Amino acid sequence: MTLLIKTDIDRGNAWAEALAANFPELKTVNWPFDGDPAEIDYALVWQPPKGELKRYPNLKAIFSVGAGIDHLASDPDLPRGIPVVRMVEPGLTAGMSEYVVLAVLNHHRFMLDYAAQRRAKLWEEIPQVPAEARQVGVLGLGVLGRDALEKLKPFGFRLAGWSRTPKSITGVTCFHGSGGLEEFLAETDILVCLLPLTAETTGILNAGTFAKLPAGAAVINVGRGGQLVERDLLAALDSGQIGGATLDVFQKEPLPEDHPFWEHPRVFMTPHVASMTVPQTAVRAIVANIQRLEAGESLQHVVDLKRGY
Ligand code: NAP
Ligand code: GLV
Repeated sequence: MTLLIKTDIDRGNAWAEALAANFPELKTVNWPFDGDPAEIDYALVWQPPKGELKRYPNLKAIFSVGAGIDHLASDPDLPRGIPVVRMVEPGLTAGMSEYVVLAVLNHHRFMLDYAAQRRAKLWEEIPQVPAEARQVGVLGLGVLGRDALEKLKPFGFRLAGWSRTPKSITGVTCFHGSGGLEEFLAETDILVCLLPLTAETTGILNAGTFAKLPAGAAVINVGRGGQLVERDLLAALDSGQIGGATLDVFQKEPLPEDHPFWEHPRVFMTPHVASMTVPQTAVRAIVANIQRLEAGESLQHVVDLKRGY
């Protein structure tokens, strides 16, 4: 059994070491691989070159290093009929919830305003708003969206969520489908995007969406850069319709040096690190899944490529 690893160099070595420690029977090879393509049974990949995966005639499964599989679904030559598995593992989920809680509290407690005041050496109190007076709305009620909402519960915010299909979550007002979006947005003071990038979610954070939020709402995008129409956000920040944003993902990554987000006083940003897959812990999910398949059982967390997530 051989697994091909294609991530960045450091993480590639970390994966090879973690796999060797947890699954010694599995041979790993790093990309670029110049051996016999027929030798490869599994691929563990992040942003492989388009067309790369069709080179391996005996692939049994493709594992995405990340939760998102848009880097695979966007490959027109992705081999059909080979299961694509997204990353679901407790470390990645916990990391995202930490980031979402941090970002929500940042906006809730006016940290962008205090940062501006600090730059101006201004010592001024902004009246505190009780958590129960704010609604946090999460777009995407999957593994990550649901966990983030659970972790937000103790703070006392009003919580809402939006998904494609109906959901019922204790303590969370759930909306679904295009019909439920407007009502969801109307009461959402802090909007968190945790959607996968698909044809339907591309550009969902746009001027029309911002206009439906209460004036001064905050936007936190930790889904994918393709979901945000960046010029619409800049216009909404300038008009005050959006009071502040936390952005972890961008249309173009790395963010170009001349991009207005770098200097924008109402934008807090990070370089696509909201949650990172850590090989030492995430390896367990890969090993368990390969062992399942080799034992004749079905793989877990296989994506539906037609749906796009
Ligand atoms: P998931 O478990 O597959 O959940 C996706 C959720 O989005 C589901 O609730 C789904 O609705 C909803 N959804 C999909 N298309 C929709 C649509 N058209 N309208 C309404 N709802 C829709 O995914 P996940 O594991 O939570 O991950 C979510 C995304 O987070 C990933 O795809 C990735 O892009 C992003 N991510 C970012 C980072 C980072 O560091 N920035 C790290 C990890 C993940 P249903 O429940 O009805 O199917
Ligand atoms: C990171 O962006 C992921 O999809 O896990």
